Amino acid sequence: MKDLFGKALLDYQNGNYTEDLMTSTHISDEDSLPLPYLFRDFKSMPKLEQEALKLSKGEILDVGCGAGSHSLYLQNKGLKVKAIDVSQGAIEVSKLRGVTHTENKGLLEETEQFDTILLLMNGTGIFQETAKISQYLQHLKSLLTANGQILIDSSDIKYMYEDEDGGFWMDMNAGYYGELDYFLSYKNEKETPMKWLYLDFDTLKLACDTVDLKCELVLEGEHYDYLARLTL
Ligand SMILES: C[S@@+](CC[C@H](N)C(=O)[O-])C[C@H]1O[C@@H](n2cnc3c(N)ncnc32)[C@H](O)[C@@H]1O
Repeated sequence: MKDLFGKALLDYQNGNYTEDLMTSTHISDEDSLPLPYLFRDFKSMPKLEQEALKLSKGEILDVGCGAGSHSLYLQNKGLKVKAIDVSQGAIEVSKLRGVTHTENKGLLEETEQFDTILLLMNGTGIFQETAKISQYLQHLKSLLTANGQILIDSSDIKYMYEDEDGGFWMDMNAGYYGELDYFLSYKNEKETPMKWLYLDFDTLKLACDTVDLKCELVLEGEHYDYLARLTL
């Protein structure tokens, strides 16, 4: 990984903002991911994220913290937060912004237990592909205290396969429709292609059933997105 995501966050943090990250997937054209959005404050966050922050309690793990926006908000409210991210640049930026407890590591390397685990901005993306959902959910389960909760958001992206006549062009033999090949570029450099998973609520709930996690729908967003709460 070249960590172009982290490089872009660092540029923004250091006052060198000249362009946005560009993203595309195997089913969609290039689109920009505006860097200021990754530095959003509570007011600018989608309702689903605001709700997740309101529900956060106890000791909190912010998985894939990015620029640390959610961690900072919770920390400023006096809550104890640990922020982790595989991107070294993201961790550097989170520290520069004042997040006090950070670690540059992936979710599967985490071993402590928490009362709230946050996975926000399409949190299921971190699972990468359907074949890995169970492994990630089992691991998340092992990080929960007895009354702990996992707050995770995602979207049902079936709408992306809809044509102008309202029909769907999905290839039913191609596996789950939310499993995307994801491409990112920044300042003429291309990141190593990755997989990014969008899960509709019913599929997430089914996967939770198989690892004995309760899964409830907390809130639906305005565009096929939702926030779910997983508990033991
Ligand atoms: C879409 S960004 C969201 C960032 C942040 N949560 C936000 O809402 O602004 C996803 C983040 O997850 C991180 N990430 C991806 N896979 C991860 C993993 N297995 N463990 C921890 N972080 C991961 C990426 O580096 C990136 O910072």
